[in-house]
Amino acid sequence: MDIINVCDAFSSYKIYITSGCKDFKSVLGATGFEKNNKIFIITDHMIYSIYKEKINELFSGFNFKVHVISSGEKNKNINTVNNIYEFLLKNGSDRSSTLVAFGGGIVGDLTGFVAATYMRGMKYISIPTTVISMVDSSVGGKVGYNFQNIKNAIGTFYVPHLVFIDIDYLKTLPKEEFINGMAEVVKYGVIKEKSLLNYLKENLKEIMSLEEEKLLYIIKESLKIKNEVVSKDFRDSNFRNILNFGHTIGHGIEIASDHKLPHGYAVALGMLTELRLSQYKLGLGEEVYKEIYNLLRNIGFPTQYKVDNINLFMYAIKHDKKIENNEINMPLIEKIGLTVTKVVVEENLIIKAIEESIGRR
Ligand SMILES: NC(=O)c1ccc[n+]([C@@H]2O[C@H](COP(=O)([O-])OP(=O)(O)OC[C@H]3O[C@@H](n4cnc5c(N)ncnc54)[C@H](O)[C@@H]3O)[C@@H](O)[C@H]2O)c1
Ligand SMILES: [Zn+2]
Repeated sequence: MDIINVCDAFSSYKIYITSGCKDFKSVLGATGFEKNNKIFIITDHMIYSIYKEKINELFSGFNFKVHVISSGEKNKNINTVNNIYEFLLKNGSDRSSTLVAFGGGIVGDLTGFVAATYMRGMKYISIPTTVISMVDSSVGGKVGYNFQNIKNAIGTFYVPHLVFIDIDYLKTLPKEEFINGMAEVVKYGVIKEKSLLNYLKENLKEIMSLEEEKLLYIIKESLKIKNEVVSKDFRDSNFRNILNFGHTIGHGIEIASDHKLPHGYAVALGMLTELRLSQYKLGLGEEVYKEIYNLLRNIGFPTQYKVDNINLFMYAIKHDKKIENNEINMPLIEKIGLTVTKVVVEENLIIKAIEESIGRR
């Protein structure tokens, strides 16, 4: 089992990374859990239909109860949060109780938010079951929910007591969800680590067929990069924004598609357009564009896309949370591993970059 120590100005906790459903009980035992402490597990319907037995097995011998929420982004809202509060209250949760998020980023963000706010904060454990939740949302402490169609409009920073990653959960993840999460892995490589990109290129077939050793490697490397970035700027004041690479344009594409295009697919397209912008603004080489284009295509992402509703797309970009002084800015790449934050980009240049990246026929 591998362990990553997450340590920043506000917190420290461990991420355990394993396969084959090993070691969970010993980890739980070693972190001071008493058999009579109450454990409340939050998961979603889809995951529970697959992992009910597994959850019973993992927590057998402990005093636990499960609350199942509906899957999907539209349920990442205040009603679901309220239902979790009610479940906790009804079952006599107190501050010695522990919440467990067993699921993807949605279960994680909601459970983390409840843990941060119920009785002014309770312990929570994260057991991520998707690529996104393993490589992205399990580090960084962002928790929350959507409000009036604004993603993650309500939220705070709150970190788990521990994260337990078991890559075996990925075996049941639909292929599209797996590909979705790979956009973030490619992003980590582009913003910080050439060797991760090389590894992806050289081992892509094995990674896509879920070969254990290769999956463990890319997950660990991704987490190390995210951890390194977050630990320098936990509250997201500037440097952490490099994690937003591909996300300004990606977010616009996602919204303009009325969320029909999954997040990772939109970010992959966003990265291609932002690489073009990096060429215009920072002199990034054409060979980098080609390299990332090929990698994304080989993973299974679309590389050509007609942006739906260009007005809505521009509106979304201009109203991004990160906009300052009415100027569109975004992190761009000077070379692989070197990202410059807050590069101001003009509207007409964005249109040109779209035409000369994903818009080309
Ligand atoms: N807090 C952060 O820093 C952060 C970072 C990235 C994303 N997020 C949030 O995460 C969410 C997206 O996360 P996600 O992609 O994990 O989505 P998700 O939680 O909706 O999971 C995707 C789908 O896969 C199913 N599923 C999950 N695990 C499974 C498994 N092992 N086998 C079979 N099916 C499984 C779920 O039921 C769901 O239908 C978004 O709401 C996003 O805002 C948060
Ligand atoms: Zn993302």
